[in-house]
Amino acid sequence: MDKLLIRDCIIIFAVLLTSFTDIFRDTKIKPESTPSVHAKQNNGSIHVDTNPESISVLVNNLHKLPENYSPSELIYADIPFVFQEKTEKQKMRKEAAEAINQLFTEARTQGIYLLGVSGYRSHSTQTVLFNNYVSKDGYDKARTYSALPGTSEHETGLAIDVTGGDGRCPAEDCFGETKEAIWLEEHAAEYGFIIRYPKGKEAITGYKYEPWHLRFVGKSIALKIMKKRITLEEYFHAEPVNK
Ligand code: DAL
Ligand code: ZN
Repeated sequence: MDKLLIRDCIIIFAVLLTSFTDIFRDTKIKPESTPSVHAKQNNGSIHVDTNPESISVLVNNLHKLPENYSPSELIYADIPFVFQEKTEKQKMRKEAAEAINQLFTEARTQGIYLLGVSGYRSHSTQTVLFNNYVSKDGYDKARTYSALPGTSEHETGLAIDVTGGDGRCPAEDCFGETKEAIWLEEHAAEYGFIIRYPKGKEAITGYKYEPWHLRFVGKSIALKIMKKRITLEEYFHAEPVNK
């Protein structure tokens, strides 16, 4: 009888130990695999859900995409690109693709000719790109302009790099002085896009000025952000990246 009791106790102890180990392991894994932004607002604490499918998702050096994430409803943007061949880089999430189509069409009617450079990038494309930049410029410099795989907005299908139709200053600071960039600064928000990495906000976004990187967030948020001249981090009262 006593032996039976001891055996039962051992079994119960083993079951409890396994459960505690599982709970502990889950707790440790969660922050890595479940991206969530806990942002503070002046009137208290709010939780901003970073569901990667949300069009306003905050993705930066501190807020990664879930592993193996690939966006839903990627379609080809119906705009001219600097290259002809059909690749994933001509794709965007449906809502963003439709918005960029409208933006390009309206820009054209106002005498502004734009070209797409790079829209959606899969995790593996971003990895190859980032590694190439590291080989070219070294890790520290590459980090100022290229996102670590898993933290690039291009992986969401909501971002696109653009340039002027004349091909001047592609992905260079001087693009900011072109009439195309000035038009984008003034009008991109009307189509739901923001200039995601503005000048002077490097410590907040974690990236150097990129007047060519447009991020779709939807019209309502875009208009607020561009009017106030703030970043997506500031809009969500999220912590600055400060690399
Ligand atoms: N150039 C931006 C930061 C990216 O790589 O996503
Ligand atoms: Zn970009």
